[in-house]
Amino acid sequence: MINILLSGYLGQMGRVIIKSVAERNDCTIVAGVDINSSADFFPFSTYTNFENIKEKVDVIVDFSNPATLFGELKFAIEKKIPIVIATTGLSNEQVKSIQDASKLVPIFYAANMSLGVNIICELAKKAASILYPDFNIEIVETHHNKKVDAPSGTALMLANEISSVLPQKPEYEYNRHSKREKRTENEIGIHSIRAGTIPGEHEIIFAGKDEVVKISHTALSREIFATGGLNAAFFIVNKAPGLYSMKNLLNLS
Ligand SMILES: NC(=O)c1ccc[n+]([C@@H]2O[C@H](COP(=O)([O-])OP(=O)(O)OC[C@H]3O[C@@H](n4cnc5c(N)ncnc54)[C@H](O)[C@@H]3O)[C@@H](O)[C@H]2O)c1
Repeated sequence: MINILLSGYLGQMGRVIIKSVAERNDCTIVAGVDINSSADFFPFSTYTNFENIKEKVDVIVDFSNPATLFGELKFAIEKKIPIVIATTGLSNEQVKSIQDASKLVPIFYAANMSLGVNIICELAKKAASILYPDFNIEIVETHHNKKVDAPSGTALMLANEISSVLPQKPEYEYNRHSKREKRTENEIGIHSIRAGTIPGEHEIIFAGKDEVVKISHTALSREIFATGGLNAAFFIVNKAPGLYSMKNLLNLS
């Protein structure tokens, strides 16, 4: 049985994780942190920040907001608790603070916890290594109308992973509205759509002369992210300090 501290327990993902944990008998949520509070009943202690948490915590699972990160890392380092960070929209400085903290505690950081997205990432890298530069590469992501960051962390992850197999680092061209000039070969276009309750769609388009290859993933519910986040929690709970990702969990190179 592992004891989880859930950061962002009042959010859409937080509520799905509470439900997923309730259906399992190998883990339990002992505390939740959220900047907001609620009149609803939760079967664990609730806090508005990381100060004064009294419960014994084995792992922190964070689906919250980038503003949480500093206090969360400080708490994890002081108490030597592993963290799963699923929150997206982090600044470069925040990513650096995760890298630094991972020298002291195990940190699992992934912009997308679903099995499927991590598989299409590998397929897209393979396709890019063969098709570039004859095919132009564009990424389109679609999410619900409550998402605050754009482009999605997953779209950026896909772009970064594709870039890693190209001979030179491409420019990222976001939404293509601020320029009136032709597309260059050395760029990846990234486009964001926000509408309704869509949990998440990502499509990578490889368009060449007279043929188009599309690799896509559709999340049909948020449960896939909750399952991935909990799998990540079990994966790092007894690991040595270090920075871990879905590549480690899925044994991808
Ligand atoms: N890695 C993944 O697979 C994955 C999947 C889904 C969502 N996410 C990310 O998880 C995060 C949460 O997603 P969501 O859909 O639940 O969002 P949400 O807006 O519904 O929930 C965020 C929660 O964090 C709380 N919060 C905001 N600022 C805070 C602060 N400073 N301290 C403590 N709590 C704070 C909010 O009150 C809210 O309850 C987002 O960054 C989202 O992109 C990641």
